[in-house]
Amino acid sequence: MFTTPFLDLPPLLSATGTVQLPGSKSISNRVLLLAGLSSGTTVVHALLDSDDTQVMLAALRQLGCAVDTDGSTVRITGLGGRLDVREASLFLGNAGTAMRPLTAALAVLAATQGGNFELKGVPRMHERPIGDLVDALRQLGCGIDYLANNGYPPLRLGSGTLNTRAPIRVRGDVSSQFLTALLLALPLVSGDNAVIIEVVGELISKPYIEITLNLLARFGIRVQREGWQRFVIPQGSAYRTPGDIHVEADASSASYFIALGAIAAQGGQSIRIEGVGSDSIQGDIRFVDAARAMGADITGGPGWLEVKRGQWPLKAIELDCNHIPDAAMTLAVMALYAQGTTRLTDIASWRVKETDRITAMAIELRKLGAQVTEGADFIEVTPPADWRAAAIHTYDDHRIAMCFSLAAFNPPGRPVRILDPRCVGKTFPDYFEALFSVAQTRTEHIPVITIDGPTASGKGTLASAVAQQLGYHFLDSGALYRATALAAMRAGIPETDEAGLARTAAALQLRFADQHIWLDGEEVSDQLRREDVGAMASKVSVWPAVRAALLELQLAHRRLPGLVADGRDMGTVIFPGANLKVFVLASAAVRAERRHKQLISKGISSNIDSLRADLEMRDARDQSRSVSPLKPAEDAMVLDNSALTVDQCVAVVLDWWQHRQPFG
Ligand code: DC
Repeated sequence: MFTTPFLDLPPLLSATGTVQLPGSKSISNRVLLLAGLSSGTTVVHALLDSDDTQVMLAALRQLGCAVDTDGSTVRITGLGGRLDVREASLFLGNAGTAMRPLTAALAVLAATQGGNFELKGVPRMHERPIGDLVDALRQLGCGIDYLANNGYPPLRLGSGTLNTRAPIRVRGDVSSQFLTALLLALPLVSGDNAVIIEVVGELISKPYIEITLNLLARFGIRVQREGWQRFVIPQGSAYRTPGDIHVEADASSASYFIALGAIAAQGGQSIRIEGVGSDSIQGDIRFVDAARAMGADITGGPGWLEVKRGQWPLKAIELDCNHIPDAAMTLAVMALYAQGTTRLTDIASWRVKETDRITAMAIELRKLGAQVTEGADFIEVTPPADWRAAAIHTYDDHRIAMCFSLAAFNPPGRPVRILDPRCVGKTFPDYFEALFSVAQTRTEHIPVITIDGPTASGKGTLASAVAQQLGYHFLDSGALYRATALAAMRAGIPETDEAGLARTAAALQLRFADQHIWLDGEEVSDQLRREDVGAMASKVSVWPAVRAALLELQLAHRRLPGLVADGRDMGTVIFPGANLKVFVLASAAVRAERRHKQLISKGISSNIDSLRADLEMRDARDQSRSVSPLKPAEDAMVLDNSALTVDQCVAVVLDWWQHRQPFG
């Protein structure tokens, strides 16, 4: 998980494999509320874990629902339409999908059963309108007060007298979430008569209302719809848990991997997408047709899709994208790989999303070299004649970050930088990890930073911090020599037996994860740091056959999106073509002191002078051995960290790294 304000995508070549997409946010929070209102227990599978679902779960707990979480599976025992807790203050973050439906449900429950609820969120939530929903609920007779500004949360919901016989009118042209909120909540008061909802104005985002109706049906409520203007909840409707329910993956998120398959799954390879398929209830699944029109080869079934490159280059299209506004952004990036000009129309809603998406897409596509024409409600994209390396601004818009990652497949191999890449967390926190798990490139395109230096120089700490910040893989090559030493000590192989040690090295069964190392299934991270193991490692590492046996294992760590490797010969022997080579120095006195402190913190007593003598002896051995002696590569940047903190060292290395990138 990287923390730098940028993510550099090296040139990518092809893609193959399977991705499991995270659950849809819209479906997740609707299902949670329905489960909370039903009687009985609902087991929700593949729930999205995000800020928005967390606040919904917390609210349900506060209201007295039993909630048990086990990974992405959540068991919820609902209220069965009866308030358990009659007074609560609910914090709903910035989750519109929690604020709107909970307002409707708790307002009618408080009015009919008595109650007093306060609903609030983060400051941004208090700027998001809710007046149209409150107006509709007040017509019904709910008691609702604004606690700060009229028309906006925070709200207080209290007593009221409901009249459910008259139709309830709600505006549909600002947000479809108000209608969704009423549809989800009003079955609670349909006991005596059918409840009628009438939409005022043209209803927008109809596919989201379809999701609502579909999920209501799964929970036993069959709403009758007359066009998109009038909805009837039949008398006596009652929520019935379906028992188990699977949350579909997000169909808009699928668009990036569908496009990926169309662009990069070549030569018999394919991208399989799991979690959403041809049976999807989400409107954006129709992106499949648009991608096919551009040349993608797509097959699918319930809960899965499989995509290959079909026609290549892609076909330019002209398409009215009103029905797939979010996923259509992905088409604009696919257009970079099409022959001719692609024209996407009826996308005025792009201008009022997370950012003005028409302008943003135009600016960023032009940075790559594309020719772009934008209008009030359309965009036209002609592929670059001359691709350029570009740093893509993402406007705190998750979809811009995700769709522009696909530009890294450009034929001339220009790198692409995504700025503020963590904005993908809104719907797909692990997007880039998923992309790198299926994307492929030539090894020499994968960036490598080497950090070599003597023992106790702090290179390991530095390398792991740099790797973590860049989101790169990390190779502690010393650990491989230490693991060989430990395995040899256990097997009784002496330090003089070069062939035996080499066989031990070649047979190592190692697993690396989260800064821990397992040898033959046993976690050995602490044992590898033992002084006697380090001393033995220094001896086994002098043997050419041992070094040769560990070569492949080290090279195999060079995986997307990049590698930071530390050791003695990373820059000189293992990765001589590394993009940045650092050689860390610190005086023997400083290193002895650091090691001393380290040992004290572990409760081990030691003597600084003998530690220093020991370090100097090890330095001498590492420097004087005939193969791969410890020395800076000719083109290494030397970093004397005697007087620097770890953070300062990391900053220096990241600064050097930045200066080697083509993004200015
Ligand atoms: O970095 P370290 O202290 O964990 O390394 C343990 C020993 O392994 C060290 O004495 C030298 C050897 N080594 C090596 O020869 N080449 C490397 N690339 C890394 C470590």
